[in-house]
Amino acid sequence: MKLIVHQLQRHGTDVLEIRLRHPQGQVLPPWSAGAHLRLQLPISDGQWLERHYSLIGTEGAAEEYRIAVLLDPASRGGSRWIHEQLAAGQALDVDGPFDSFPLQAEQGRTVLVAGGIGITPMHAMAHALNAAGQPFELHYLARSEDRLVLLDELRALSHAQLHLHVGANPPALEALLGTFSAGASLHACGPVPLLNALRERAAELGWPGAALHFESFGVRSQPGDRPIRVHLAQSGIAVEVQPGTSILDALIAADAFVAYDCKRGECGQCHSRVLEGSPLHRDVCLSPAQRAEGLCTCVGWASSESLTLDL
Ligand code: FES
Repeated sequence: MKLIVHQLQRHGTDVLEIRLRHPQGQVLPPWSAGAHLRLQLPISDGQWLERHYSLIGTEGAAEEYRIAVLLDPASRGGSRWIHEQLAAGQALDVDGPFDSFPLQAEQGRTVLVAGGIGITPMHAMAHALNAAGQPFELHYLARSEDRLVLLDELRALSHAQLHLHVGANPPALEALLGTFSAGASLHACGPVPLLNALRERAAELGWPGAALHFESFGVRSQPGDRPIRVHLAQSGIAVEVQPGTSILDALIAADAFVAYDCKRGECGQCHSRVLEGSPLHRDVCLSPAQRAEGLCTCVGWASSESLTLDL
């Protein structure tokens, strides 16, 4: 659907909030906390980028959708285009909302953890829990105070215990998580290293996997990534993949037959067996046994120059 940029608002140093409305003012399809929109960004003549952003605010049917976009200093397109080119009144192609990260809180202790711009789905979950009258803890981690955004809205939530953790070093996750108690749930969104650390500490503290719900962001090339050559053993396809492009996208572009869904290292649909090479795992969904066997091609990379997949 086409939506119009109704309003842009800066938060902190590097976050831009965007409010999108229907061109004729119609009420937009309802959404649930944790849902996201898919935007098609016309970054240059004939070139489009697809980007996913979590909805913020209060779930349900509404006259506008709100998203918040962090300017990624390494951005080669998406967030930079949004911060520098997007203007009020502009029309955007938008798909969704998609319920990719549903709130699965039980009656027990409810813990939300947001790392950086991972606050966006947590903002919506916090509003949903508050509206339901359910007490919850929200731990918000940021490198510096000017990176904490939407704080006024979070502080206004009467059922929230808000904990701000500011600084380059993460807080003690053992204290944050505590020992698992019946009915407890943890929802977290943030960079992959934080989510992996939470998963490990939670397991040590007796949290069962079913109580942990993660969404990642910012899985992109990392300093030191080098181009890799990916061979598909079954189909004979070979592609050269440059940092900044995912292996999965390169395979799709080469017409390889691949399964996928989230493209964010969360669903495991793109897991592919590795026959040769040294994979680097950047997903938040695979078990150690699955990692020993293969990798998620939507976010994974390799430390070897080439990788052979059983596809
Ligand atoms: S497509 Fe979901 S983990 Fe890769």
